[in-house]
Amino acid sequence: MDRPNIPQHTAELPVENNKVKTRQSVTNRVQVAINTLKWRQVHSNDEFFEITLSPNRHSAPVKISVQQIPGGETKGWGTATMVWDASISLVRWLEMIVQDKDGHFSYSPSETQNAVTSRGPLPEILRPDDFQVADSFSFSFSIDETSRFIELGAGQGFLGICSAVLGCGHFLSTDLPLVDQFVKDNISRNSHLISDSSVTHSSSTMPVSFLPFDWASTTLPDGIVPGYNLILVCECIYHNVPHHLVLNALLLLTRGYGRDDSTRDPASVARASPDCPILIVYEHRNTFVFSDFMHAAMEFFDIFQLPPEQQHPFYYTFDIYYFCARLKQEHRPSG
Ligand SMILES: C[S@@+](CC[C@H](N)C(=O)[O-])C[C@H]1O[C@@H](n2cnc3c(N)ncnc32)[C@H](O)[C@@H]1O
Repeated sequence: MDRPNIPQHTAELPVENNKVKTRQSVTNRVQVAINTLKWRQVHSNDEFFEITLSPNRHSAPVKISVQQIPGGETKGWGTATMVWDASISLVRWLEMIVQDKDGHFSYSPSETQNAVTSRGPLPEILRPDDFQVADSFSFSFSIDETSRFIELGAGQGFLGICSAVLGCGHFLSTDLPLVDQFVKDNISRNSHLISDSSVTHSSSTMPVSFLPFDWASTTLPDGIVPGYNLILVCECIYHNVPHHLVLNALLLLTRGYGRDDSTRDPASVARASPDCPILIVYEHRNTFVFSDFMHAAMEFFDIFQLPPEQQHPFYYTFDIYYFCARLKQEHRPSG
C-alpha cells in the first residue's frame, strides 16, 4: 500500500546555512525524493556532523557539532558512530514541535475498519504501512524544562544534545558501555550551547547525560529513575541487531522486568515508567526483521504509526516511519 500524499506546507523552515527559506510544496513522491537528496547521507562520512537548530522563533540559531567515526562499523564501533538519517528527521520534527506547537505534541488516531490492531489476529507478515490506522490511544509529550526523556541506542548522542538545545529539561542518552566516553565527549563539545541557549533549564546540572544500558540487562541500572515523559528509540531495529533485546529494554523501562517474569526485581520495578509514551523511529530495510519485532512487541504494547501529515513536511521520507507505542494495561506492574 502506498503512503498517502502529503499536504502542501508553506510555513517557513530554518535551514542549516542559517538562511530562512520557504518550505517546499510536497505534493508527490517525486518531490519527497528530491527533498531527501538534500539531507539524507549528505554528511555521513564527515568527521563532524553539524546541524543548525533554532531553539525558538525568537532566538539565534545554534550550530551543534557531533563527532562521527566514518566507517566505524569496520573499526569495532558497530553502528554507533554516525548520525543516522532517522535521527536527522526526528531532530527536525522536534524542532518543528518547539517552533510551531510551543513544544507540545498530541495526537490520537481513530481506529479504522480492517486495521491491524494488537487485539485482533495478526497477519503472518507485518509491514510498516499495516500500522497506519492501528491501535488507538492518545500520544502526547512536551519539550520544556520539566520534560525528562530517555533514549535507547543513542549512538553518538546527537538526539540528546539536540533535544537539550531545543529545551528538554533532562535527556538521558543510553547505549553500550563501548560508547560511554565518545558520547560524553560529544556532550562536552556542545555544553556551551546548551547552557547558552535561550532555553531555561530547571536544573543547574547538564540537561543531557549518558548512562551505559545494555538492552540485554535483566534489571534497570540505578541511574534510571521512574517518571520519564518520553522514551525514544531511533534506528535500533535492523538486521544485525538482536531486536528481541530492544523489546527487552522497552519492557525493562516500562515495567521493570523483561519478557521473563522470573527475573522480576522489585527495585527495578520501582524504577519503571509504565505510563511513558514511546516513540520508535525506524528506517524500513527488511520486512522479516520488522515483522518479527512487531509480532513480539504487539504482545505487550499498543502501537500505531504516526501518519505522514503529522511528520515534518520537509524531513519526511517514505521509508522512515514513526511508531507510537504504549505498554498495554494488562502488562503494567500491579505494584
Ligand atoms: C544504528 S545505531 C543508531 C544510533 C542513533 N540512535 C542514531 O539514530 O543515529 C544503533 C545503536 O544501537 C546500539 N546498540 C546495539 N546493541 C545494543 C545493546 N545490546 N544495548 C544497547 N545499545 C545497543 C548501538 O551501539 C548503536 O549506537
